[in-house]
Amino acid sequence: MKKYGLGIIGFGGMGYYHCQEIAKDERLFISGIYDINENRTKFAKEQNINVYSSAEALLADKNVNIVLVATPNNFHKEYSIAALRAKKAVICEKPVTVCSSDLEDIIKVAEEEGCIFTIHQNRRMDKDYLLVKEAYEKGSLGNIFSIESRVHGARGVPDGWRQYKVAGGGMLLDWGVHLIDQIMNMLPEKVVSVYTHMFSIKYPEVDDYFKLMLRFESGKSAQIEVGTCNFIAMPRWYVCGDNGTMIVENWSCDGKIVRSKETEEHWEEDIVYTKAGPTKTMAPRRKETTEEIPLVEPDTDYTRSYKAIIDALEGNGKPLVDPKEALRVVKVIEATFESFETGKVVETNI
Ligand SMILES: NC(=O)c1ccc[n+]([C@@H]2O[C@H](COP(=O)([O-])OP(=O)(O)OC[C@H]3O[C@@H](n4cnc5c(N)ncnc54)[C@H](O)[C@@H]3O)[C@@H](O)[C@H]2O)c1
Repeated sequence: MKKYGLGIIGFGGMGYYHCQEIAKDERLFISGIYDINENRTKFAKEQNINVYSSAEALLADKNVNIVLVATPNNFHKEYSIAALRAKKAVICEKPVTVCSSDLEDIIKVAEEEGCIFTIHQNRRMDKDYLLVKEAYEKGSLGNIFSIESRVHGARGVPDGWRQYKVAGGGMLLDWGVHLIDQIMNMLPEKVVSVYTHMFSIKYPEVDDYFKLMLRFESGKSAQIEVGTCNFIAMPRWYVCGDNGTMIVENWSCDGKIVRSKETEEHWEEDIVYTKAGPTKTMAPRRKETTEEIPLVEPDTDYTRSYKAIIDALEGNGKPLVDPKEALRVVKVIEATFESFETGKVVETNI
């Protein structure tokens, strides 16, 4: 069995996470890391991880087959291109780049060098997302026309580079990229318009809260919201189909589907008297006309992305994330910033 060496550039929170994850795959080993921060290199040495003195030294090492770029976002392009030029396969952290022209440049170099380039969009493996995707694909709610996807925290933007524009900080690039990628991975359609409301509530340089509406070619709608000032969190997913509704409360997959058991809709004559007066439209349905299906937490495997890249290196299949898919996501992010700056809906063909 051939073993593949992985060199990590940027050994912060995510770099170390990758170290732990790849230890689960016997075909991979850590060749070493490079980081500009002495505390992080000291920490790596304490873990018996080899430390390179420079990125050039890491890239020159023949034992490094795959380079993982896990620096702040503004360095992704430079390191990805250097690694591809050194004939390495590259996994780049998300958001792959802060603008689409940077990603186009990387894709061009990957094609010129004939090297694999992929992006770590690990939230495609999140269990809550897999449940919604399954409901979409199986038609469990009928025809899904509206998807709301949210993450809500109350701790603001973490200290460090995420608070600075120059580093590619802000929540649209940090969390938005995951949520947009999930939706675009699920709906195989073009995005035809983008509209946002974006805030810098406590961090003046970057967005720390946004709401984003995406409209797809068929008219389907997705609302994406990332908040860092939500002391009460809303459900992770709220999905509407023409035959049912799904709520996924959280990453543990608490939630349910409630759907119609009737083949034909019929109106009941009763008027319901609520504390806010009488209503027919908003009266609850009779219990026997619907069924409630509890959600079953699916299995997942976050190491699939490493397996896929090794398989691709051995000529079997492709990495999980095609950079051209990431390019669509980056273009939606660009359109979102444009919508914020102009205050208008941006018509797109993405
Ligand atoms: N896929 C995910 O779920 C996920 C989660 C967290 C972070 N990320 C991504 O991973 C990347 C790193 O995020 P993090 O949370 O680990 O940040 P971090 O601040 O914890 O780590 C970044 C590391 O990069 C080092 N660094 C900075 N500039 C460098 C340079 N020029 N050359 C080499 N090293 C440099 C820093 O010293 C630090 O150790 C970001 O792109 C982020 O978006 C992805």
